[in-house]
Amino acid sequence: MRKTVIAGNWKMNMTPSKTTEFIKALAPEVAAYNKADIVLCVPFVNIPAAVEAANGTNIAIGAENVHFEPKGAYTGEISAEMLVECGVKYAIVGHSERRQYFGETDETVNLRAKAAIASGLTAIICVGETLEMRESGITAEIVAIQTKKALAGISKEDLAKVIIAYEPVWAIGTGKVATTEQANEVCAIIRDVVAGLYDKASADELTIQYGGSMNAANAADLLAMSDVDGGLIGGASLKVADFTTIVKAAQ
Ligand code: 13P
Repeated sequence: MRKTVIAGNWKMNMTPSKTTEFIKALAPEVAAYNKADIVLCVPFVNIPAAVEAANGTNIAIGAENVHFEPKGAYTGEISAEMLVECGVKYAIVGHSERRQYFGETDETVNLRAKAAIASGLTAIICVGETLEMRESGITAEIVAIQTKKALAGISKEDLAKVIIAYEPVWAIGTGKVATTEQANEVCAIIRDVVAGLYDKASADELTIQYGGSMNAANAADLLAMSDVDGGLIGGASLKVADFTTIVKAAQ
């Protein structure tokens, strides 16, 4: 059976000291919950504080991005090896904010995912349509293309190091959540695409998250859907009580 993964994406929020405070408060709240893997993806500079605070807990730490080259003249970038040495286990790749504001393309998403996996990280690959795409009726095509391009050259064995997050761009940070049916429908489409690329058994094992205004009030309904295997949570992952409620909703 595939894993349920509840992951926070802090985006550009929190400082190292606030990170420590947050994780110290969260850890006892979620300590008894073992039905879902719990991940916090935090800004690079908060990683050492996060790893230290999460040590000995059931919370794993992730990064919000990773560069595709192992090292070199890439000012401002962070390699997978650096992350691994810091104790990071996951890296978000291809978030829509990076696609939208930082020139991320399907090709660089693929390169970053491969680099993450090669170093032993689990890549949380984000896909999702804009409102304009949804209204044009091309959501299925868009997420299929993004999924195929992101997974190009990734072996069936390495799929165990992949999570796909379906994040409709129109639902991110807008308070506009996809309906449970919309979320489940697109997660199932992604699973079908993966079955076509690999095989059904591999697709059935793949964790596919929903992200986009998931919160304490709507998480249980979204997570109850057959093809939604977790959440990638922005705003609500910045509040201990809300994130705890979402973790508990995954039980
Ligand atoms: P919100 O939960 O704030 O809508 O953000 C979702 C997201 O982008 C997670 O990666």
